[in-house]
Amino acid sequence: SIVHFWTLIFLYIWAGPHHLHYTALPDWAQTLGMTFSIMLWMPSWGGMINGLMTLSGAWDKLRTDPVVRLLVVSVAFYGMSTFEGPMMSIKAVNSLSHYTDWTIGHVHSGALGWVAMVSFGAIYCLVPWLWGRKGIYSLKLVEWHFWISTIGILLYITAMWVSGITEGLMWRAYDKLGFLQYAFIETVAAKKPYFIIRAVGGGLFVAGSLIMAYNVWRTIRGDAIRDEAEQPRVAAAPGLRAQLAQ
Ligand code: HEM
Repeated sequence: SIVHFWTLIFLYIWAGPHHLHYTALPDWAQTLGMTFSIMLWMPSWGGMINGLMTLSGAWDKLRTDPVVRLLVVSVAFYGMSTFEGPMMSIKAVNSLSHYTDWTIGHVHSGALGWVAMVSFGAIYCLVPWLWGRKGIYSLKLVEWHFWISTIGILLYITAMWVSGITEGLMWRAYDKLGFLQYAFIETVAAKKPYFIIRAVGGGLFVAGSLIMAYNVWRTIRGDAIRDEAEQPRVAAAPGLRAQLAQ
């Protein structure tokens, strides 16, 4: 993880121009940004593999501990968005993806899939530790949160991929006389079904977060744990684990 950290620090600062492809930025600077972005793939995936291999010998926890599941899914999304990013930084790919919903899909697979999911897992672990509770108020609600947010984010990202590629292809389509085939408003109309799917996916993600807020609030208040028998097997219930060990 130390090599991962320093390689990211060194490489990321040169990758910025991938946001400025096909702008007034000099061509050499765009190519530099593309090259460093592709190089970023290696440390990013090194970090992802390091994260996943931490579970070696304990994969059964995925079945029993929804908090660990949130953390593992977040690492998987990290891998996915850091595979997609270098690919999108290639100029030929970026000429299709730039300014389209594809970029929005990429952003959210990083921001929701990775950052939000790892934060949820961390919050579920930290709250019982910080407030000195034996466990989380309800493990079942964590399970619900996990599934609702995972389904939500998958709907969101896939809708944005399809919408973005459709949009990009429509923008670059010419007719026989060399005129643009579609007016801008036609490309907006084509995106409507995907925006509905995006709204459903995003709504599910928000609903999952509200479930978490309720669960955290009940945990902090110190309310009686609903599924105490289930909890000694989860990392986020140190008090109950300790009881089991005695
Ligand atoms: C190796 C890792 C990554 C690379 C090389 C990369 C590369 C890219 C590229 C090429 C774009 C499209 C730029 C454009 O066409 O305008 C982009 C957009 C974006 N990426 Fe990544 N990405 C990586 C990982 C991530 C992760 C993990 C996140 C979030 C946590 C993220 C957040 C964003 C955001 C917010 C934008 C949109 C910026 C904007 O247009 O305003 N990226 N990235």
